[in-house]
Amino acid sequence: MTSKDHFGGGSQLEELNGFTNPGLPEHKPRVTDRDPKAAKIAERQVAAWFILSMVGTIWFIVSYFLFTPGETMQSIRLHNTSVGLGAAVAMFSIGAGAVLWAKNLMSDHEGIDERHDIGGSEEDQAVALEILHQAKEESGIARRPLLRNTLIAALAIAPLPAVLVFRDLGPLPGDKMFNTLWGKGVRLIQDPGGIPSTESERPIRAQDVTIGSAYHVLPSGIGNEENAEHPLNEKAKAAVLLMRIDPKELKEEPDRKEWSHEGIVAYSKICTHVGCPVALYEHQTHHLLCPCHQSTFDVTEHCKVIFGPAKRPLPQLPISVDSDGYLVAQSDFPEPVGPTFWEINHP
Ligand code: FES
Repeated sequence: MTSKDHFGGGSQLEELNGFTNPGLPEHKPRVTDRDPKAAKIAERQVAAWFILSMVGTIWFIVSYFLFTPGETMQSIRLHNTSVGLGAAVAMFSIGAGAVLWAKNLMSDHEGIDERHDIGGSEEDQAVALEILHQAKEESGIARRPLLRNTLIAALAIAPLPAVLVFRDLGPLPGDKMFNTLWGKGVRLIQDPGGIPSTESERPIRAQDVTIGSAYHVLPSGIGNEENAEHPLNEKAKAAVLLMRIDPKELKEEPDRKEWSHEGIVAYSKICTHVGCPVALYEHQTHHLLCPCHQSTFDVTEHCKVIFGPAKRPLPQLPISVDSDGYLVAQSDFPEPVGPTFWEINHP
């Protein structure tokens, strides 16, 4: 029974609208309808696509472990290209197999459906059910166990790459976010834009920091041998913004009055939302602005959040001056820098 049979062909529509239904062009049976051998070949081709999809998924998993990205761009490219290729083959092959199945093996009878009211009567619902049964028969899913099983297998393993991608979210940061290169007596130096060598370090004298100025600052010693393995990581964690404000404008908590020096204050540059560098300082309002999602921090009140999605203030670096008049840290940050995370209360 066809859809045309259910809805009485085009006659009702013609009566209502007064037009002549040109009908369908002559139906040409496909080679797979005429030749059982061709149908068998098509069936194998579809199964081959589903098997290729499985190969793509397995390739994704194997290359994920085989080509672990290292420190070089080349290794990262190799990893991304390889897993990307696996995912593309896995997804494309399922789609290609399904299209070939529909084009060559599912029933291709043609029919005309008239528009009808939305919401079916019981009779229509029974008809719909019958059509569903008919579709099941015509798709051959019950009669062709090879196709059904390979499709089910391909779909079943297709989500595995997602599991591996989620694995990349870990491991948990542990205590990595709780320690930076700052410590008692470490000098504040100007950020030259790269990794400063010991010779090129430019420490900051407190008397050179004028009211209204702001400096991008790093800890002295970041280019030393002991940090040579991951200098960029260390730099990213320890980056600081240094500003000088008229001390009368600072609203400091009693327990933090000793953390600044004559209006010079230092705060972590890593946004507490998701970690972008907070790089914009408005010296008239004393606001620090994160360009990523516009979180705004008030420097006069310990960088509390006054706008945007960040949930906690920027951590403050306690500073003082050494005997030569250079700015130094009193300690590491008393709290973790960077985005808020679930372990933040467990140093
Ligand atoms: S990372 Fe700064 S506001 Fe989102």
